[in-house]
Amino acid sequence: MKITIFGTGYVGLVTGTCLADVGHDVICMDVDENKIARLEGGEIPIFEPGLEPMVKANVAAGRLKFTTDAAKAVNHGVLQFIAVGTPPDEDGSADLQYVLAVAKAIGEHMQDDKVVVDKSTVPVGTADRVKAMVESQLEQRGVSLNVDVCSNPEFLKEGAAIEDFAHGARIVVGTDSDKVKQLMRECYAPYIRLQEKLMFMDVRAAELTKYAANAMLATKISFMNEIANLAERLGADVEQVRRGIGSDPRIGYHFIYPGCGYGGSCFPKDVQALARTAREVDYEAELLGAVEAVNQRQKQTLFAKLANAFDSDLKGRTIAIWGLSFKPNTDDMRDAPSRTLMEALWEAGARVQAYDPEAMGETRRIYGERDDLMLAGDRIQAVKGADALVICTEWKEFRSLDFPWLKDQLSMPVVVDGRNLYDPESVRRAGLMYYAVGRGDSL
Ligand code: UGA
Repeated sequence: MKITIFGTGYVGLVTGTCLADVGHDVICMDVDENKIARLEGGEIPIFEPGLEPMVKANVAAGRLKFTTDAAKAVNHGVLQFIAVGTPPDEDGSADLQYVLAVAKAIGEHMQDDKVVVDKSTVPVGTADRVKAMVESQLEQRGVSLNVDVCSNPEFLKEGAAIEDFAHGARIVVGTDSDKVKQLMRECYAPYIRLQEKLMFMDVRAAELTKYAANAMLATKISFMNEIANLAERLGADVEQVRRGIGSDPRIGYHFIYPGCGYGGSCFPKDVQALARTAREVDYEAELLGAVEAVNQRQKQTLFAKLANAFDSDLKGRTIAIWGLSFKPNTDDMRDAPSRTLMEALWEAGARVQAYDPEAMGETRRIYGERDDLMLAGDRIQAVKGADALVICTEWKEFRSLDFPWLKDQLSMPVVVDGRNLYDPESVRRAGLMYYAVGRGDSL
């Protein structure tokens, strides 16, 4: 099947590559010439486990091509996937300019009937706007062609995207057209196990499903962070509470890990965008506002715990940070709790010695060279000569730790653990002061 993907960001590149890998003939289009040139040379602009060899193999097999030529892209695919970015506007709503620019290009160049597939996370009602944009271009050209627009939201997790693509919980397709249903069945047919997970529904229901899923997951996290903060004040261990409630299948163990707040390109943006959509239809989504507010506060707790340990005087102190990406297995630092912490530390006059297995380049790109930031070559170098250690991301390599060794490295024996990686007893036995999240006396 011939497929076109607009946008070679995270979602577009993973979708295009996975669909090529099961035999479809895919062209990925992007307006960024530099990015396309790099992709053609086999260079992947993002870090995602397993993606690079898959791109290379499919390019070599001739099933995956890249272009900046909109006319060529539009005339290739029966299905035209839109997977461009929808960054938040100043007011928190999703900015649709890139999505609508693709719709315009499709309307300008299409020579036969097309099915447009909205893959980007877009507010309810966007499919109608995309259809109207394509049709207005067709009208200007004076041609009579048919365009269908369906919604096929993406549920990939960064760091596990390829696995998620093949083994997702469901494929949601919003459409009322039998022709579109048939084409989407064909598109996903090579993923045999996904066939039974294809869920057809109304376009608006599909669009809302995406936001509802992310908002629900973000709510679980903020709820758990709220309980963790309470546990700290009540002298209870939230890890025991987590096991206690997760064992109820109605609650479940997933996404109830307390921590230093959720980050990334999805939860913060989508919770805000859904709250904004609600306001547009004169509804105040109180819960979403609280989910967002709890998260903002949670991202500040690492600094608050440090400030507490150092009697509010961090000036001239050197703080080691392990983990900078918003979660493990990615170099993505969008809305990462580490950024809130580093910026607060600099504001307070402290120095940072940071290490992350993948996000060092991204950190340099964001913050550049500065005297109060040392980018360490490994986790050991990061703690050398530091006063205290903070863990922001639960990379596997941080899970085992020689506590007596760490005590010798730090001038003050303070460990702030934003991910509850260690057994508090073992850490404290080594003479370290351990401030985790919601674990008894962690304040
Ligand atoms: C999220 C969703 O999980 C995907 O299903 C969705 O497709 C994607 O957004 C999207 O909309 O594109 P992602 O942002 O890659 O995926 O990351 P998650 O693994 O969901 O983690 C998000 C944040 O929540 C991380 O900062 C993580 O540390 C935090 N988290 C997660 C917790 O603090 N506690 C938990 O129990 C789980």
